[in-house]
Amino acid sequence: MGILGNIISSTIKSNIIEMGDVLVKYYITTPIFYPNSSPHIGTAYTTVAADALARYHRLLGDDVYFLTGTDENAQKIVRTAEAKHVDPKTYVDGVVERFMELWKVLDISNDDFIRTTEPRHQKVVQQIFTKLYEQDDIYKSEYSGWYCTPCETFWMENKLIDGKCPNSDCGRDVELLKEESYFFRLSKYQDAILKHIHEHLEFIQPVSRRNEMLRFIEGGLEDLCVSRTTFQWGIKVPFDPKHVVYVWLDALINYISALGYPDGENYKRYWPADVHLMGKDIVRFHSVIWPIILMALDIPLPKVIYGHGWYLTKDGGKISKSRGNVQDSFELIQRYGSDAIRYFLLREMQVGTDGTYSEDNVVERLNSDLANDFGNFVSRSLAMVVKYRDGIVPSPGHDGSQERELKALSHEVKTAVEKRLDLYDPAGALEEIWRFLARCNKYVDETAPWALAKQEDQRERLDTVLYTFVECIRVMAVLTAPFMPGLPPRICALLGHDEGLIRWEEGDQWGVLKPGIKVQKGEQLFPRIDISQFTTVGEIETVDQAQGQDQTIKQVEKEVVAPAQLLEFEPIKEEISFDDFSKLDLRVCKVLSAEKVEKTDKLMKLEVEVAGVVRTVVSGIAKHYAPEDLVNKYVVLVANLKPTKLRGIMSEGMILAASQGEVLEVLMVNKNLPGGARVK
Ligand code: MSP
Repeated sequence: MGILGNIISSTIKSNIIEMGDVLVKYYITTPIFYPNSSPHIGTAYTTVAADALARYHRLLGDDVYFLTGTDENAQKIVRTAEAKHVDPKTYVDGVVERFMELWKVLDISNDDFIRTTEPRHQKVVQQIFTKLYEQDDIYKSEYSGWYCTPCETFWMENKLIDGKCPNSDCGRDVELLKEESYFFRLSKYQDAILKHIHEHLEFIQPVSRRNEMLRFIEGGLEDLCVSRTTFQWGIKVPFDPKHVVYVWLDALINYISALGYPDGENYKRYWPADVHLMGKDIVRFHSVIWPIILMALDIPLPKVIYGHGWYLTKDGGKISKSRGNVQDSFELIQRYGSDAIRYFLLREMQVGTDGTYSEDNVVERLNSDLANDFGNFVSRSLAMVVKYRDGIVPSPGHDGSQERELKALSHEVKTAVEKRLDLYDPAGALEEIWRFLARCNKYVDETAPWALAKQEDQRERLDTVLYTFVECIRVMAVLTAPFMPGLPPRICALLGHDEGLIRWEEGDQWGVLKPGIKVQKGEQLFPRIDISQFTTVGEIETVDQAQGQDQTIKQVEKEVVAPAQLLEFEPIKEEISFDDFSKLDLRVCKVLSAEKVEKTDKLMKLEVEVAGVVRTVVSGIAKHYAPEDLVNKYVVLVANLKPTKLRGIMSEGMILAASQGEVLEVLMVNKNLPGGARVK
């Protein structure tokens, strides 16, 4: 299967299927994302991980179908659109475009993109709702309880914590609902779903999530409210159109509506899914509601539901738009490249745990793993082939113990990578590949080709070493291909080949490259990032509205003109209560002195007087104001912000300024207000 699958194009593949030959099918999905705000780097993880798995299975020769999409019928979409004074469809159309663009720049190789506002999806949802109603799995009653709109979840009173949403990463206000609703008989299927989970150890992974789900279901399933009447955005219940279908029931069905359920060719070929990949927060919906819908319809269940961890900020908060700690993903990709961002996301999230995202971590990983370990190995070894053999790959002589060790290791590593990927662990797979790369780098130092080149009787040995170098590069290109799809064409070009060189089954084979081919040194695959080439614009301090924690993310700005798409206005953040707003203590304060912070061109140190107390504040405004423009002026200070150190100076608050693109203006108060007056 492997060799065959790799070299055949998709057209030939479909011919083979028609001819009755058996290809292994592999259907992988991501969750469909809420387009209530642009995608961020945390959201991108699931899609990049699914893409790596899809690419790996294609390299194995499997017949892969990879689905992603957007979940557009949520109540929170209506709220966001209302706040922006646009109709929901116009709003989601704009955001969905951003999702599609992001997947494009991240080289995501999805076969389809399903939008739940598409007729092909709506039709299937209505059909399923009617069928479930007709067979009495759905019945009409009245819902009286609570609803968390950010989580799109119903909660009974006894589940709330201090009257708020009990989700550990939410804790936001819930709303009381009392409305006529349709209910889905989850309780009827409690024993059946428990039995399925017990009998299929692989069904919910990793095992920690499986245990969580078992505890949850054993606690008792209640029938689920599956329609709403208080708003009209969504898929109408066909036989009772004042109801719209509950967004989770609607959304889960995407996994089969996209395949053309019930008669579509893709449905017949690809269902059941081999894996639904998702963040841990939504495993519950996928391991309870989804399998029960399928059981009720007598459809086979997906094979695996895998819940990965989250990307958190350094302070432990989840990266999310509503917390305001989101960095523009397009900007990051433009700055570091798609392969580097993909590598970071896949490498940093250890299996079963959360990952920490910060731009410093990205730069660190890029410099150490990609520039130092990988890029340097490639450029050093190719430079030696160019220097000692004019770029012509020589015929190798006999293997010594070092070559034998490298070959054995490549086999061990490739097998381990396959195992890791079978366990949905791209970080573990990359760690293994880097074990091989470390051995390659050691091989360069041990064999010291520069010394061999000086000894005429070591000519054959040098040939062996140089040949082994290029084979190591090829092996690295094969093993990293699922993770960094931009690399194979670049490496193949350096080796004078096209991408046909990337054959998974040859990832532990040696002697693949023909002696006599001409290689080029080329440019560095991953140039080292010198962080000082970025000028710090200061720290964005944001208050975590959900949990009241301070979040800090560092925003660095490259000295290039941002493309137009980066200059668009930030979307308005989610609505907050007056209580949330009044947690901010905004004060007028008088600037007593101002001076630029040494060795930065953006930071200004200010001494300000607020309510009779002098405070030090470091602010990223030095490019826009001379110190004398600020002294004796009255500006606005966030006075109760947790102090933080910036360039070694403790900053006790933040000065408010408005900015767009290159323009920045500090907010000043001109009337005769004393320092200390509250801004509200
Ligand atoms: N629309 C639902 C899914 C319906 S699937 C039938 C939804 N959408 S979401 O946009 O809120 O989240 C989609 C996925 O992104 C979730 O699996 C979630 O865990 C993941 N992530 C969102 N923020 C994330 C991080 N900071 N880190 C990792 N994954 C993150 O839920």
